[in-house]
Amino acid sequence: MSTPHQVPTYPDLVRALADRGLLNGRWRQVFEAVPRSRFVPADVWRQLPDRCEPVVGTDAWLALVNSDEPVVTQLDDGAVGGPGVATSSNSMPSMVARMLGLLDVGDGMRVLEVGTGTGYVAALLCERLGDDLVHSVELDPVVARQAADALARTGYRPHLRVGDGEQPWPGLGPVDRLISTCALRYVPYGLLRQVRPGGVVVAPLAREFWSGALAQLRVQDDGTAAGPFRGGATYMPMRAHRVPDLHEVRGRGRARASGLDPARLLDLGFALFARARLPGVRLVHKDTDEGVQVWVTREDGSGATAVTGQEVWQYGPGFLWEEIERAWWEYESAGRPGAEQFGLTVTDRGQQVWLWDPREVIRPARA
Ligand SMILES: C[S@@+](CC[C@H](N)C(=O)[O-])C[C@H]1O[C@@H](n2cnc3c(N)ncnc32)[C@H](O)[C@@H]1O
Repeated sequence: MSTPHQVPTYPDLVRALADRGLLNGRWRQVFEAVPRSRFVPADVWRQLPDRCEPVVGTDAWLALVNSDEPVVTQLDDGAVGGPGVATSSNSMPSMVARMLGLLDVGDGMRVLEVGTGTGYVAALLCERLGDDLVHSVELDPVVARQAADALARTGYRPHLRVGDGEQPWPGLGPVDRLISTCALRYVPYGLLRQVRPGGVVVAPLAREFWSGALAQLRVQDDGTAAGPFRGGATYMPMRAHRVPDLHEVRGRGRARASGLDPARLLDLGFALFARARLPGVRLVHKDTDEGVQVWVTREDGSGATAVTGQEVWQYGPGFLWEEIERAWWEYESAGRPGAEQFGLTVTDRGQQVWLWDPREVIRPARA
C-alpha cells in the first residue's frame, strides 16, 4: 500500500486492475508492456465534478497518471479562454480494461477504434494484436498528431486516420471489432456497416436521461446489431453527439408533494427505462447535502425540479413529474431491473431499448 509520500507507480495500477478481475492473463501482460505515462502530455487536468483542475508538478502528474482516474488532455476543443470543458482525455484505466474485455478480441482480428485521443488504447491493441490489425480514427488534428507521435516514440504503428469516425473509413474492409472511446447518443448505422456479421461493437452511450451506459452489440447477418448494456460508463461525447442543454421552460411553477425521491432517477436501470418511455425528456442533476436536485425538461416547454425531501415544482403544459412518477411505478412493478437486464437493437431505422429480450421493446408512453 502507498504511504502519503509515495507516488503510485504504473505496476501498482496494473496490479490493482488485475486484483479487481478486470485483466485476464493476456491483457495483464499487454497493460504491463504499455506504460500509460508514455501517452500523457505534460499539460493535463484532473476532472472534478464541476470543473477541470490543472495538475501542477511532477509528483501530482505521476500520481494522476498512475491512478484509476481519467486524465484530461484537452479543454474546449483546444480553444483558448473557453469555459474549461474536457474534450479529450486518456480514459479511466478500469474502464479501458472493461471495454477491452467486452471487445472479446482474438488473435488475427482487425479492430477499429473511434477516438484515438492520446493513443493509449491503440497502443494496447497493437501490443495485443500487432500494428497491422489496428485502425484508429481521431477527429481533432492536433490530438491526432500528438497520438501519432506518442505511438511512434513507443514503437507502435497502427493505421491512423484524421477524420470523423462516424463516417466510413474509405477503403477499410469489414473489421471484426469496433470500439468507440467517445460516447454516442445513438449508434450510427454507418458504423455497424464497417463490422462483419458476427463482429462485436463496444460503445459508451450517453442520452438525455442517462449519464452513460456501455453497450456490447453483436452484428447480425442482416447488418442490424443487438446486445446488452454492460453497466455505466461516463465518456466525453463524440463531437456531433454532445448532449444538448435543457429546454426552455414556460409558465409559472406549481408545487406539490413528491411521491418519489429524485435520487431514484439516477439509477441507471431506471434511467434506461425512463428514457425509452419518455423520449425527448432531458435531465440534469447536482448532489446536495440531503441527496440530489434534478431538473427535467421537454421540448413542449414543460419541466420540473425536485430536491430530496422537498416539494416538487412543475412548469409549463402537462405534469412532467407525474409522468416520471408513473414511469417509476412501472419500473418498480417490473421488479426494478438492473441496467444489465436492458439491451439495445440498432437497425437502419434507428435504435430501440428492450428489457430482458430483444422482442420486449420498451415503447414510448402516450402523454
Ligand atoms: C476519451 S477520448 C479517447 C481516449 C483514447 N482512446 C485514448 O486512448 O487516449 C475521446 C476522443 O474522441 C475524439 N472524438 C470526438 N468526436 C469524434 C469523431 N466524430 N470521430 C473521431 N474521434 C472523435 C475526441 O477528440 C477525443 O480525443
